[in-house]
Amino acid sequence: MPIIIEKQYSNQAHVAVWHITESHDELQAMLPSAILTDAELADIRHAQKQIEFFCSRLTIKYLVDKLGIGYLGIKKDEYGKPYLVGSNWHFSLTHTAEYIAVVMHPSRPLGVDMEQPSEKLLRIAHKFLSETERNDADSDSDKLCIYWSAKEALYKLYGKRKIIFIDNLLICPFRKNQQVINGRLRINEIDEQYTLIVERIAQYYLVTVC
Ligand SMILES: CC(C)(COP(=O)(O)OP(=O)(O)OC[C@H]1O[C@@H](n2cnc3c(N)ncnc32)[C@H](O)[C@@H]1OP(=O)(O)O)[C@@H](O)C(=O)NCCC(=O)NCCS
Repeated sequence: MPIIIEKQYSNQAHVAVWHITESHDELQAMLPSAILTDAELADIRHAQKQIEFFCSRLTIKYLVDKLGIGYLGIKKDEYGKPYLVGSNWHFSLTHTAEYIAVVMHPSRPLGVDMEQPSEKLLRIAHKFLSETERNDADSDSDKLCIYWSAKEALYKLYGKRKIIFIDNLLICPFRKNQQVINGRLRINEIDEQYTLIVERIAQYYLVTVC
């Protein structure tokens, strides 16, 4: 089982990262039928997306078993935010073509995102960064990627739609090699500060917020 990273952060969050090396059929055979229903599979047409889906569910199952959490299935709320049925544990997940990351916390909502630096983020920086953030990131593709993943992770923690990345999700300026950065979720009556953990995994950045 290619879980390449498994650890607990100091904030009690547990993270597991799966490196996808198996074929579609190998992964499908590894999944117990209680975890993957035919209805779920029928909704995912593209083979690569099915691979990512299999791995995400296997990684969840790995952590659930490791942490002794009773598994009664996964459901999604009206906004698409997933949760474990009948459990107080919270989780968040992210897929890429090569890696899947899942984070879990016994009592607090959390969010995770994994991305690799790309030209696209430079092109859309004005859409997701405030002026202060844009000045800090400049055209540094690594920093733009960390900003983007940090905001996606905060978005997943919050979980609801109608969020404006420039206004509602704010990240304090940081150094490129900084492992802990600070963020803020500011929407309606909510105004909360968060610390976010940044890790480099191959060409990707993994950002977790809890
Ligand atoms: C939902 C969203 C966060 C997913 O991110 P992504 O980079 O496309 O994909 P990831 O692989 O990182 O994450 C996918 C997972 O997010 C989770 N997710 C979906 N909706 C969610 C929500 N409302 N809250 C929390 N998690 C959610 C799901 O678990 C999903 O995986 P699954 O379908 O296998 O269960 C993203 O598509 C989105 O809507 N972002 C906000 C809107 C936006 O991007 N605005 C741009 C501002 S410029």
